[in-house]
Amino acid sequence: MPQKQLNYINGRWSEPRSDAWIEREDPADTGEIVATFPDSGQDDVADAVAAAADAYESWRFTPAPRRAEVLFRAAEIMAARKEELSRDVTIEMGKVLKEARGDVQEGIDMAYYVAGEGRRMWGQTTPSELPSKFNMTVRQPHGIVAAITPWNFPVAIPCWKLMPALVTGNTAVFKPSPFSPLSAYNLVRILEEAGLPPGVVNLVFGGDQAGAALVEEPRVNMVSFTGSLEVGREIAAYCGRYNKRLHLEMGGKNAIIILDDADVDLAIEGAVWSAFGTSGQRCTAASRMIVQERVAHAFTDGLVGRAKALRLGNGLDEDIDVGPVVNQPAIEKIERYMHVGRDEGAAVACGGARATGNGLDRGYFFQPTVFTDVRPQMRVAQEEIFGPVTDIITCSDLEQAVEINNGVQFGLSSAIFTRDVSKAFKAMERITTGIVYINAGTIGAEVHLPFGGTRGTGNGHREAGQAALDSYSEWKTVYIDYSGRLQKAQIDRPDSSGTSVR
Ligand code: UN1
Repeated sequence: MPQKQLNYINGRWSEPRSDAWIEREDPADTGEIVATFPDSGQDDVADAVAAAADAYESWRFTPAPRRAEVLFRAAEIMAARKEELSRDVTIEMGKVLKEARGDVQEGIDMAYYVAGEGRRMWGQTTPSELPSKFNMTVRQPHGIVAAITPWNFPVAIPCWKLMPALVTGNTAVFKPSPFSPLSAYNLVRILEEAGLPPGVVNLVFGGDQAGAALVEEPRVNMVSFTGSLEVGREIAAYCGRYNKRLHLEMGGKNAIIILDDADVDLAIEGAVWSAFGTSGQRCTAASRMIVQERVAHAFTDGLVGRAKALRLGNGLDEDIDVGPVVNQPAIEKIERYMHVGRDEGAAVACGGARATGNGLDRGYFFQPTVFTDVRPQMRVAQEEIFGPVTDIITCSDLEQAVEINNGVQFGLSSAIFTRDVSKAFKAMERITTGIVYINAGTIGAEVHLPFGGTRGTGNGHREAGQAALDSYSEWKTVYIDYSGRLQKAQIDRPDSSGTSVR
């Protein structure tokens, strides 16, 4: 691990012109500084955008299969270094090593998948209404993409954005979260080693100031942002005003529905993984369990029993189930929601406080928490807490379950446990989130399918899968007339020359 991470602008690792620096602590042991990196200012952002603009002129004309080869090599290097990349994820943002490996694997998968797209990236050909004329569509890049990424998937999410942006011919400025600088640095080093030409990806570390400067930089054509609803809305307002292309991925208040006929043990497994994995800090985490009355008792008992047994600690220890949350504001927010929930009349069946003792006081550890007696309109059942906290809401039937499921401002992921195929299909049809799981938890999206959500979660664009190509490129429609005369669409038809086609 280097002493100081630097910005990467036009193929050079450089100190920020701002000469301001940020330190990142280990969230499992806050006395340890794991990285020092630039708090970039507007000038640094402008340098990065200028480099991206220069590089765009040649990168966009580099054949897509050649661009893809660079990404393929990056995937190979990432795979070879998976273990060290995973350890850095754990050290900087706290998720347990097993999950950190999953995060890195998701980045590798995306790089391989997108590399394959370099030799496809299909458009359409379609007949013309006129003779001796050929019609087709081809993808064209937007130009300069700003990739603004969160800390919770510090390898996977940057890969979700950068890989499709690059294969479609864009250049990029990457502004990672200040809570996960190591993974950003590692990824850009790998892209450099894989042979990415200077200026194609530029890395600018920093906080909100750098992020805002990047969004507002006039030469940035597209912004892809994953983060909070509040910040996403501000970015959307700005991009709307200047007609910049925009992809947004924001919060979730995802639910698992457990019907009377479910395999309750399986549902408990899914609930534990979805609610407490990554300490509940996934956009896809399950923070509501909507349980049909007959199984509510058994399910709640099982979930609470499992939550109490989870081992908290430093995620580098392979025996640990749940790591810390990311930082002090995160733990304070979770603590505030404990008061909110109790004041609203919810009961705390387990957890409800910071975890202390056994060295846990040194980190941001919060006990896995289950609220019971929760009603759908309570704030703890409506607002994203982003911690190891989940609610039990009871329901009488599928119809009510679906209504509760859909009755939040977010629309990312949902799950249902049932053995009844008709109910599973009915739920699939009526649930209004962007992702639905049958007999699995709310987490675990795969890279070759679209990822994203409805309502407050997104803006209609998707990441991953073929859908990512649509987010990072625009269609160009091409008409080729080889008739040797001027043919007029809609006008040159047999009926307009006096001959009726009726
Ligand atoms: C996120 O939390 O923003 O499906 C991404 C999942 C992961 C990605 C989560 N593959 O939970």
